[in-house]
Amino acid sequence: MSPEPLPALAVHGLGKSFGTHTVLADIDLNVAAGTVFSLLGPNGAGKTTLVRILATLSKPDRGEVRVFGHDLSAEPDAVRRMIGVTGQYAAVDGVLTGTENLRLTGRLLHLGAAETRRRTAALLERFDLVDAADRPVDGYSGGMRRRLDLAMSLMGRPRIVFLDEPTTGLDPRSRRDLWSAIRELAAEGATILLTTQYLEEADQLADRIAVLDGGRIVAEGTPEELKRLAPGGHIRLRFADRHLLAAAARAVPTAVGQMDPEQLTLHVPSEGTAAEVKHLLDCFADLDIGVEQLTVHTPDLDDVFFALTGHPSRTESAA
Ligand SMILES: Nc1ncnc2c1ncn2[C@@H]1O[C@H](COP(=O)(O)OP(=O)(O)OP(=O)(O)O)[C@@H](O)[C@H]1O
Ligand SMILES: [Mg+2]
Repeated sequence: MSPEPLPALAVHGLGKSFGTHTVLADIDLNVAAGTVFSLLGPNGAGKTTLVRILATLSKPDRGEVRVFGHDLSAEPDAVRRMIGVTGQYAAVDGVLTGTENLRLTGRLLHLGAAETRRRTAALLERFDLVDAADRPVDGYSGGMRRRLDLAMSLMGRPRIVFLDEPTTGLDPRSRRDLWSAIRELAAEGATILLTTQYLEEADQLADRIAVLDGGRIVAEGTPEELKRLAPGGHIRLRFADRHLLAAAARAVPTAVGQMDPEQLTLHVPSEGTAAEVKHLLDCFADLDIGVEQLTVHTPDLDDVFFALTGHPSRTESAA
């Protein structure tokens, strides 16, 4: 019988307060080796505080953390050798070039000159930074900076990588580039813990997601499991005028209370199957009610977040 494989990360009863403000309360987490785990939460949820603790940059008040079986408080150096961290506020030095930043990281890790040069060249290549390698980082775009930051966190060949909001503030194209870099890393077998406020990002990348709100984990599961926690999907119908809208609402008793007279829309609870859509359209056709537009809405993580916490995942003003 083979022994249970050690989890990459095991957190038990973790707590942290600043003065009287409890920032993390009783956090339990298990991250299996070789998986991507996402901590999803809005501004102030405690994501950075948790990552800083896991990365040995800050001490918890309570609880236990093990990284591949090593106790974080008893063996911080052993833990440090296994982790790579990419911060929400990138650690790159803007005055230095990309090459110099990577070499500096190699020196801090005591890799030796030859190995540092080898890994620097390989990482510049991998993160598409060869052309920019000898320019000061101050002239890099946001996406290039993040890629360099990720490259720096990989210099020590970590078994587990912590990424704190790796794509916040990036344009959609740079975000997708970084997503593919993260997927590649995962495919090579690294364990990744990633924080994000973007539900789509967690959905795209993570094997499992923990939803963090106000310093507590309010739900945990695969993206599919979490989506099942949200109220079901619906079909959204738009009509040409209020008369048609009202007639449609009378024809579909399940749509009671789901009418928006401003938008001229009606939401009909539904799983969105072709048969249901056809039945609905046939029914309106029989009654001579024209439908202008029809969209099928399946629950996404936004709905889940709202269902769990009672507030939206992101407040635009805080972005
Ligand atoms: N050094 C500190 N002293 C006092 N309070 C702090 C400190 N660091 C964090 N906090 C508080 O802890 C809470 C959680 O902060 P944290 O930075 O961990 O949140 P976050 O989830 O990373 O948010 P964001 O999405 O904005 O990065 C916040 O209310 C913050 O004000
Ligand atoms: Mg943060």
